[in-house]
Amino acid sequence: MLKTRSLWGICFLGISYLVFVCSVSTVTRKALRGTNVTFRCPFPFTFNLSNIIAYWWKDGNKSFLQQDDRKVFILKRAGAYLHLLNVTVPDAGTYYCAVKYKSQMAGKGAVVRLIIYASPVPLKIVSIPCEGTASVFLRLQCRTAEFHPKDFNLTWHKNGTEITEGFTTEQQEKAEGLYEVISSFEETRPIEQGTVYTCQVYHVSILDPANGSYTVGNVGCHFVLPVHLIYRTAVGILVIITLMVIIFDHITSDNPHRCRGEETRKNDVKGRKVELGGEMASGEYECHDFKNTIH
Ligand SMILES: *[C@@H]1O[C@H](CO)[C@@H](O)[C@H](O)[C@H]1NC(C)=O
Ligand SMILES: *[C@@H]1O[C@H](CO)[C@@H](O)[C@H](O)[C@H]1NC(C)=O
Ligand SMILES: *[C@@H]1O[C@H](CO)[C@@H](O)[C@H](O)[C@H]1NC(C)=O
Ligand SMILES: *[C@@H]1O[C@H](CO)[C@@H](O)[C@H](O)[C@H]1NC(C)=O
Ligand SMILES: *[C@@H]1O[C@H](CO)[C@@H](O)[C@H](O)[C@H]1NC(C)=O
Ligand SMILES: *[C@@H]1O[C@H](CO)[C@@H](O)[C@H](O)[C@H]1NC(C)=O
Repeated sequence: MLKTRSLWGICFLGISYLVFVCSVSTVTRKALRGTNVTFRCPFPFTFNLSNIIAYWWKDGNKSFLQQDDRKVFILKRAGAYLHLLNVTVPDAGTYYCAVKYKSQMAGKGAVVRLIIYASPVPLKIVSIPCEGTASVFLRLQCRTAEFHPKDFNLTWHKNGTEITEGFTTEQQEKAEGLYEVISSFEETRPIEQGTVYTCQVYHVSILDPANGSYTVGNVGCHFVLPVHLIYRTAVGILVIITLMVIIFDHITSDNPHRCRGEETRKNDVKGRKVELGGEMASGEYECHDFKNTIH
């Protein structure tokens, strides 16, 4: 495929400009996204630069590359240069060049196959709140930077030992041929303080796998679970209410003319007129009984 394409490129130029070169070896260049790449098209040292025109083109595209803010053409003694600045994934491909001297083809068509890598580094690892699930003690999310090409491997480790279950890994396609991976991990066993969880990513753009680590502090999900939070809040409120009731009763019981029994009975009067007599009588006793139990 590549061979056919490069031949096509050379021969296209041949037809248009009567170039004599038709076999060139391909050089492969690898570059990281965002870096600058320079290609050189050589010509004889004796050539007067004023009479030279350099042409650059890519893959099988019939139109020559034009200078813009990311493509700079430079002519120097014995060489025409193409500077590709801040390369992006779509810049990958096979590049060709030719030099015309005094209206004659003179330079050799250089063929460079450019491969662009984008690294998944840095990895970001964060703990996310575990809502609702009481069986989850820790939830971590590991996210890569946008990378290229697509292939990768991701593993999770707990104190250096690989974990084989409890996580899901998802790859998303982003703009400009880039990919992002998000891996979510759920710890279903109680967590120990000081345990280190590591997310490790292997990718062709990096020699060593990239690591993102999370060390368990003193806060795990079990402390922030809403269910537990509600439970604790409820217990707290109950304790406060109980205390208030005890204090209130203590204060009111010190006043011999007012007691809780009396007040409730007065409120009941309107709705229960029929039973009024009996109620009032027994109410007196209850009031005194209550006072007696407090003291
Ligand atoms: C190069 O060519 C230009 C214009 O054709 C001419 O003015 C100049 O003298 C030449 N330079 C040399 C070193 O021959
Ligand atoms: C050829 O190059 C031009 C300009 O550089 C670009 O707009 C066009 O999409 C390219 N075509 C193909 C088939 O790559
Ligand atoms: C490089 O290109 C990217 C987009 O591909 C852009 O976001 C960034 O700002 C550029 N950097 C420079 C230094 O121009
Ligand atoms: C991922 O792992 C598989 C098998 O374990 C291996 O063949 C492949 O080369 C790895 N890929 C990367 C990008 O490390
Ligand atoms: C992991 O290592 C830390 C520190 O050495 C230790 O406190 C913790 O208990 C270990 N956790 C597990 C699950 O082995
Ligand atoms: C990540 O960890 C692995 C094994 O623990 C190690 O071989 C590798 O060098 C680490 N990567 C970096 C970038 O430190």
